[in-house]
Amino acid sequence: MNPRLLELHLASFKTFQGATLDLSDMTVLIGRNSSGKSNALDGLEVLSRLASGGDIVDALDSRRGDEGPLRGGMEGCPPHGSDEFRLGCRVTSERLNTGYIVVDLDVTVRVRPEPEIVSETLRGFSGSHRRTRDAEERAWHTLLNTNGPSPGPGSIGATWYRGTRGRDPRAAFRSNRLLTTQLPLRLARDTKVEQHVAQAAEDVLEALRGVFHLDPIPHLMRQYVPGRDVRLRRTAENLSAVIGQMAERDPEQFTELVRLVQALVEHEVTGVEVIRSELNDVMLALREGTATTPAREMSDGLLRFMAIAAALLRKGRDLDLGGRDLADEGRPVTIVIEELENGLHPSQAARSLDLVKRSSSAQDTQVIFTTHSPALLSALDAKDHQSVVVCTRDRDTGLSRLDRLPEVHGYPSLMAKGSLGDIATSGMLEHSQEPQRDFTAFDRLMGLG
Ligand SMILES: Nc1ncnc2c1ncn2[C@@H]1O[C@H](COP(=O)(O)OP(=O)(O)O)[C@@H](O)[C@H]1O
Ligand SMILES: [Mg+2]
Repeated sequence: MNPRLLELHLASFKTFQGATLDLSDMTVLIGRNSSGKSNALDGLEVLSRLASGGDIVDALDSRRGDEGPLRGGMEGCPPHGSDEFRLGCRVTSERLNTGYIVVDLDVTVRVRPEPEIVSETLRGFSGSHRRTRDAEERAWHTLLNTNGPSPGPGSIGATWYRGTRGRDPRAAFRSNRLLTTQLPLRLARDTKVEQHVAQAAEDVLEALRGVFHLDPIPHLMRQYVPGRDVRLRRTAENLSAVIGQMAERDPEQFTELVRLVQALVEHEVTGVEVIRSELNDVMLALREGTATTPAREMSDGLLRFMAIAAALLRKGRDLDLGGRDLADEGRPVTIVIEELENGLHPSQAARSLDLVKRSSSAQDTQVIFTTHSPALLSALDAKDHQSVVVCTRDRDTGLSRLDRLPEVHGYPSLMAKGSLGDIATSGMLEHSQEPQRDFTAFDRLMGLG
């Protein structure tokens, strides 16, 4: 099994202090405006950018492929009044029953005066020796740990794990980039332990590098693009080429996309096609009876929907993750979509949810999305509620909190009245005359008021 993300640790980041976001195949993040949903997703984005191995400032403040700098930049990461932020994640991986099956990365970055890593630890739970009776080998090991005085400007000292015998080696690492990206190069890998430590570091990095924040920008999709530009970019600006390739290589997926488009619009769409310019550049178009509507004239909502549908139908394959163009096979991907319902008619909520579910049930594909749509919430069944995380913000402290929906106060009494969707859409939450404070509290949590 390839590495996958289990948790995001928001130890000290923007509006979060000591919060954990649990990640499943599908994770639905809900909550009122400014409650911290995007801040949490920014945290994941920061880790993903750091995992690419570049300098902290480059990773957070400059463009990354087709993406701009991180929202708020590096300076926006520490909670107001602090110079540092602290983030982490938990990844699980089971390869051939050896090595570390759970790995935790935690890192603290100081952004002022000189941006640098001030602490970093990598810990692993060893599953190597399942059949062994040696309890020590089936335990958490500290694989990498910064400690002791700084060896000099621009560097930081750290030790790494060498097994239960002998002292851990210590060396100076560069403090301007994630140490976990530097660690594998330090390891000779001539022992089992070193191989496992290197693999643990690579597993965390692989899971983080697979984070793909899909942010389709309709006006960028309205132009001709080279037909060969077939790996979907985060802005979906090359959607026309992606769909062109889908039509050629994967007629089944393409047919499904056409059906989804037909169900979305009111007028008759007889097909989707890709127009070619003389230079072999391509542009998406809708066939509407005898007329053809090129992407240039298509609606924002429809273009955005097609981009999301294309990414989800392909179950995270053929995405442009930047950096090295790794083979898709077996590469873990986490697709992040903010406001899934944006620009969509409420009647499409169940369909979008179904797409997400099918995509996230594929091996190596996780999906995280945020939503404000009662229609979408109503499409979630009781089992899905396990995957819903409610984000709230304390009025007094300004801190954000994350709770799994079933653990929110008042959940059982509400659910006894019907499904979450029924309750939300029938207005029971907003207009309950019963003196049940649970409802109002719930209503506030869900941001449905
Ligand atoms: N570095 C920071 N420290 C403290 N608060 C912050 C920081 N950055 C952003 N915020 C607060 O986070 C809020 C935005 O939260 P956001 O996650 O974007 O909301 P939403 O849940 O709507 O996605 C703003 O009110 C802003 O003041
Ligand atoms: Mg937001």
